[in-house]
Amino acid sequence: MSQSSQNRSLIIAGNWKMNFGPRETEAFFEELSGRWKEFVSSDTDQLLQTSALRVLIFAPSLSLEKARMCTQNSLPVPVFIGAQNAHWESKGAFTGEISAEMLQQLGIHHVLIGHSERRQYFGETDETVGKRTHSLLKQGLHVMTCIGETQEERESGKTEEVLAQQLRGFLTPETAPYLNGTLTLAYEPVWAIGTGLTATPEQAEETHQFIRKHLWDEYGIEASGRTPILYGGSMKPENAPQLLSQPNVDGGLIGGASLKAESFLQLIEAAGAHLQAQPSK
Ligand code: PGA
Repeated sequence: MSQSSQNRSLIIAGNWKMNFGPRETEAFFEELSGRWKEFVSSDTDQLLQTSALRVLIFAPSLSLEKARMCTQNSLPVPVFIGAQNAHWESKGAFTGEISAEMLQQLGIHHVLIGHSERRQYFGETDETVGKRTHSLLKQGLHVMTCIGETQEERESGKTEEVLAQQLRGFLTPETAPYLNGTLTLAYEPVWAIGTGLTATPEQAEETHQFIRKHLWDEYGIEASGRTPILYGGSMKPENAPQLLSQPNVDGGLIGGASLKAESFLQLIEAAGAHLQAQPSK
């Protein structure tokens, strides 16, 4: 199976989870822009301008507006801001939820769906992940949908079965047209999230290959070649170069290490350096 595609961006995405209100958001971006040149080379800046490399931050809802203003006003290159969840309906009696249109009013065009913490703590199921993914794509958002197995599932040899079932929950003929880079997948083994345990580069590549093959088998070579598949789970500057150098790993979804400007900048530069060494991923 050929894995390379000229059309796939490399993506470094921060997932802030329930961290950083508007005040801390402002301080984070002040440090990010102040220290940008210390860590990020002008070659990487150029890659960001051409969107060969893309940087995204999924911020809490209440910090989205501040984050978007900060990226617009203080950064030399585009950094995209996304929400951590949104509802499938466009409005109505859904206390606590936010809609695609509300995000678009703030100039937010990205959303993260189906993170394992949402599945684990907030009752998200394959069905609701499917509804959110499909509806939000239809309403014009770029969606990053997460999948991943638990430790128990991996140890009992069920990883592929679990991932295939999660994939079928949101990959349908209706979402297939968005397998052109509008829908991004994030593979996050649950046992590696926030634990300090990371999948080895070989484990990550093997699983990403499985996901890519699933896309290929069900939706064809174009869809499989154009859909970025990110790895998440304790990615940090020390292990990023090995993970990013795997042919089917198209970037990282990063929790802990995205909360410090220094490590986030190092991750951006690691991705830039990887692309400079091997531009045709
Ligand atoms: P982590 O989180 O990098 O802190 O493991 C990743 C995620 O949950 O997206």
